[in-house]
Amino acid sequence: MTDSITALHRLHVAELERRYAPLFERFALDVLVVHAGTQQKKTRYDDQYWPLRPNPHFQHWLPLEEAGALLALRPSKKPVLWRSTAFDFWEAAARIERSIFEPFEVHEVDGPLPFASVREAGERGLFLGEDDAVAASLGLGRADANADLLAAVDALRVRKTPYEIACLAEANRRACLGHQAVGDQFATGDFSELELHLAYLRATGQDDAETPYKNIVALGAAGATLHYVRYDHGRRVQGTDSLLVDAGACFRGYCSDITRTHVRGSGDLAATFRALIEGVDRFQQILIDRAVAGLPYESLHDESHALLASLLVDSKLFHGDAELAVSSGLTRALLPHGLGHSLGLQCHDVGCASITPRADNPFLRNTSIIAPDQCFTIEPGIYVIERLLAPFRAHAAIGALVNWKLLDALSPFGGIRVEDDLVVESTGACRNLTRPHFVSSPKGAAARDGAVFLA
Ligand code: GLY
Ligand code: MN
Repeated sequence: MTDSITALHRLHVAELERRYAPLFERFALDVLVVHAGTQQKKTRYDDQYWPLRPNPHFQHWLPLEEAGALLALRPSKKPVLWRSTAFDFWEAAARIERSIFEPFEVHEVDGPLPFASVREAGERGLFLGEDDAVAASLGLGRADANADLLAAVDALRVRKTPYEIACLAEANRRACLGHQAVGDQFATGDFSELELHLAYLRATGQDDAETPYKNIVALGAAGATLHYVRYDHGRRVQGTDSLLVDAGACFRGYCSDITRTHVRGSGDLAATFRALIEGVDRFQQILIDRAVAGLPYESLHDESHALLASLLVDSKLFHGDAELAVSSGLTRALLPHGLGHSLGLQCHDVGCASITPRADNPFLRNTSIIAPDQCFTIEPGIYVIERLLAPFRAHAAIGALVNWKLLDALSPFGGIRVEDDLVVESTGACRNLTRPHFVSSPKGAAARDGAVFLA
């Protein structure tokens, strides 16, 4: 893995040099200085810092999680990396595989970086990073003050190189170990949300701060809170229950973002919820099959509502026409989030979100035309969120068509989401980076005996 990833990384940097080249002329630049980032204080009133979240524009070039490092990019020149190796008795130095430096001219300085040397005299330059003090020390203006320039560099992250796809695939493999472990535990034991969260971290070999986003580990009704990160300590004993886990892993800064929903127990309600999970799983697979190059992602989002509407009718949750479930807004009350988002160094990669979605899809974060080498999630769901459903209860015509008795009975199960990570291949079809890691594990098969573990 290491040799091949090193070779892929070298090719990736060469590709970035090609992609960046036109920007220098377009924005009249001789140098673009990209900053790795500065640790952020938790509040301005104390001296505690969040772990470094590297600037994605920097990490696009190399997986170095080191505050203060600088990359000077110039047209037709090897990129120059500046890093301080000064001893600091407070902090451990970043763990580094030196092979990541091969494509760069590296300046390691045993002390503060000599800002005057990073930028050559007379060069027209800009600084790409968050730290105004560093920009000022370099005597450079901020690149992100120019919205066109920022959009142009963000757009360079949309098409993933083979190196990035390898990283995303590895991030998926790691996350699936955690999903598998948590699914197994939930099927057979008594656990709190906190214990399941810790089991996920253990199985994926990550600290909470290393995960791409806070793990969502929701038992029962909590599954209806889309970004639930409370980790309740109360232990739930065996019996009918549901679990929604939305959690990923990182590899070289690249994120996976995977959701699985489980149910355990017997009885009619558990069986109905299990059938709904299977229904969402089935239509998620249909959407993945339909996700081909040339299609606007927003139309796939619209199709998810049509498919959800059919599931509502088939499950006897809605007694009207499927089209009415969509046109009345009912499906959007049951599935209020977007179908998915671009994925990369950012869990919600920004490059595919440059166009504002239609007003009825306010939370859709991917409005691009699907194209080869894009990576994105497809994550439909269904949730019982009372505040969103209340207007439909009060609506004489639509309210009469909803099976409130069944919907209310399902509300202690919270919600369902099924999320995979996809990469668009040169054929135009999607490759699923997530599912292969579930089907190959014998433990996953065991988990299916006691719980629906979708794979
Ligand atoms: N994984 C959380 C989200 O996509 O918002
Ligand atoms: Mn997601």
